[in-house]
Amino acid sequence: MKLNLENSLIKENEFYQKDYQKKIKEINYVLRSTDQSAGLAWVDWPLCYDKKEFLNIQKLAKHINETSDALLIVGIGGSYLGAKAGLELLSKKSNIEILFAGTNLDYTDLGAKLEYLKDKDVTVNVVSKSGTTVEILATLNIIERFMRGKYKNDYKKRMIYTTDKRKGYLRECAVLDGIETLVVPDNMGGRYSVLSAVGMLPFAVAGISIKKIMEGAIQAYNDLNIDELEYNPAYKYAVYRHLVHKKYEKKVELISTFSNKMSSFGAWLQQLYCESEGKDGKGLFVSPLTFTTDLHSVGQFIQQGSPILAETFIDVETPQKDNAILNVPLGSPIKFLDNKNISDLSKAAFDGTVKAHSEAGVPIAIISIDEINEFNFGYLVYFFELSCAASSLLLGVNPFNQPGVEQYKSYMKENLKK
Ligand code: PA5
Repeated sequence: MKLNLENSLIKENEFYQKDYQKKIKEINYVLRSTDQSAGLAWVDWPLCYDKKEFLNIQKLAKHINETSDALLIVGIGGSYLGAKAGLELLSKKSNIEILFAGTNLDYTDLGAKLEYLKDKDVTVNVVSKSGTTVEILATLNIIERFMRGKYKNDYKKRMIYTTDKRKGYLRECAVLDGIETLVVPDNMGGRYSVLSAVGMLPFAVAGISIKKIMEGAIQAYNDLNIDELEYNPAYKYAVYRHLVHKKYEKKVELISTFSNKMSSFGAWLQQLYCESEGKDGKGLFVSPLTFTTDLHSVGQFIQQGSPILAETFIDVETPQKDNAILNVPLGSPIKFLDNKNISDLSKAAFDGTVKAHSEAGVPIAIISIDEINEFNFGYLVYFFELSCAASSLLLGVNPFNQPGVEQYKSYMKENLKK
């Protein structure tokens, strides 16, 4: 993974002003050396993840593949976005289909999914750390009825709850009904939990190597376990975002990619950053975009609209396998495309977009990986989690709570109790 700040519009010496190095040393100390009780369990997770549980995950994944046509995951926010991102990036041809429910309160969508699944063999994985989220419990209520209808009392063998080790309604139900459980570790918030059972069960079911994902995360842990700003790209990216936001008064960070497969990774990043940073009137609003699609919808604004934007590109250097060479006859207005493939066009679009947006005054960071694979996914997840925690702490906000999310939940509950 490489971080390129050549087009960031920020001079190298700005990184070393305003005591950033000193602040980063303090932040690194907080992240690395406090007890885990402050929501920090993800920091050492690549080293101390529960190996026994990961073996159980592999076993469950094998069993699910042998007995099911589909895995239905019920989760919202941090309890599904990371899994969806990894599945979209890494899934290979597989015999099992993975679907999501509980991601909103749209019965048309849920009803259509259950209708689609009615003649298939299904396993359900309900993911909720708190075990109290209304969207999840309501969806589970409906899905339980669906599963009981299909499998009578045996349906319980087709349910897996991923939740807190001890507390919450979901845990209580699992104990009461003898349902298989996996654990969302203590002190690991939803948006920092993709490398736990929350993401690992779906990945293993899809035939994705969870071992290689963890190898990437371990490498990131080792590479980024350093408090020197100059040598730690996660901290450098955090300081870059802080400068862009506070000194250059940007309000929005676009996360732009030219790979469709990266779209859900952008959605995971949006949640990671918005829920971690967006407090006390501070934070960059993160908006994921997929190019060139979105260049034809919001490109105009980026180029000439309100100057509130910064942009981070996630670039995959090795193009996807692309054997379709264009063959354009002489005299055609698109003759300049002759002998090129779609990846060549995408590369030209990428370089052109960076140039155009940079000329328009948009600060640009480029984060590149050589290719899309399990190792790089694990690496990127850890890189962004660390960088996000650091940039939140630079803003002086707590990266691990989400008090603002509670507001709508309590109003919704009040409305339902009327
Ligand atoms: O990142 C977070 O902590 C949140 O987005 C939660 O994941 C989300 O609200 C769902 O909560 P729970 O897993 O408790 O159902």
